[in-house]
Amino acid sequence: TLALAAVIERQSTSTTVYKFSGGGTQAENLAVRPNGQLLVTFMDTNQLWSLDPASKSANKIVTFSGTSSTAGITEVTPDVYAVIAGNYSFQGGNKAGSWGIWKVDMTGSSPKASVVKIIPESGMFNGLTTLDNDTVLIGDGAKGAVYRLSMSTGAYSIVIQDASMTPPASAPVPIGIDGVRYRNGYVYFTNIFKNTFSKVQVDSNGKATGTITQIWTNSTPDDFTITSDGTAYVASSGTIFKVTSDGKAAKIASVASATSCAFGRTEKDKNMLYVTSSSG
Ligand SMILES: *[C@@H]1O[C@H](CO)[C@@H](O)[C@H](O)[C@H]1NC(C)=O
Ligand SMILES: *[C@@H]1O[C@H](CO)[C@@H](O)[C@H](O)[C@H]1NC(C)=O
Repeated sequence: TLALAAVIERQSTSTTVYKFSGGGTQAENLAVRPNGQLLVTFMDTNQLWSLDPASKSANKIVTFSGTSSTAGITEVTPDVYAVIAGNYSFQGGNKAGSWGIWKVDMTGSSPKASVVKIIPESGMFNGLTTLDNDTVLIGDGAKGAVYRLSMSTGAYSIVIQDASMTPPASAPVPIGIDGVRYRNGYVYFTNIFKNTFSKVQVDSNGKATGTITQIWTNSTPDDFTITSDGTAYVASSGTIFKVTSDGKAAKIASVASATSCAFGRTEKDKNMLYVTSSSG
């Protein structure tokens, strides 16, 4: 029927762009540069890699010394990124207090990386998004909180903290709030082990001004990308779901162990969704 047709999306076939094996293999998140190249982070290494989807080649561009893992990444000003790094390992578990934000400036002839702030109160950082051209919002999965942080001064504070962001007691990793994205006055977030995708209206400082509303529920929703109208593409249990802001969801592709996704930015690949996977 027409009503049904409206919510059925054509499923796309996913193909491998590149398989990581040289450094980390648990690709965790990505950002797409204005020139179309991808920047990829890893839970199992303190390295940032650049990947050219056109030539299918990749190389290590930054090592975040004194850390063992990288997580969320977001473009703050054109071709300048904030990146989460800290200590988590499968064997050693999470090191609270090790997590911080680094700045990676890609505007010059070679990448420039510097620490913005290591946050001693950090539980376990994972999701990261840009609020304005100096401010990022950081999801702390262990504390169930969102911090704001100034990239120029390193000043930070908690702006949202809620039970919908905490990990459940059964969580295998101390992560509740996982993916975090700001779009048009709202913070959208998943809670990976509470199986929720939610949103909350915020002011220009990132502070919640309304109540947190659950949009959708599905098994282990990880990170996601979101378009200007609030439509999300969520990596969840090896599937990419398109989820509208009123909670209508459709499967659009399968990618084993999908962790995050982002649209291409060049004329040629603007309708291509790039997906990271913890299997490399
Ligand atoms: C984090 O891991 C790195 C690399 O293994 C290590 O040098 C550093 O001491 C660790 N930091 C903390 C706070 O555990
Ligand atoms: C950020 O935006 C403000 C106004 O919106 C502008 O004045 C300022 O120059 C911008 N800063 C950077 C680093 O782009």
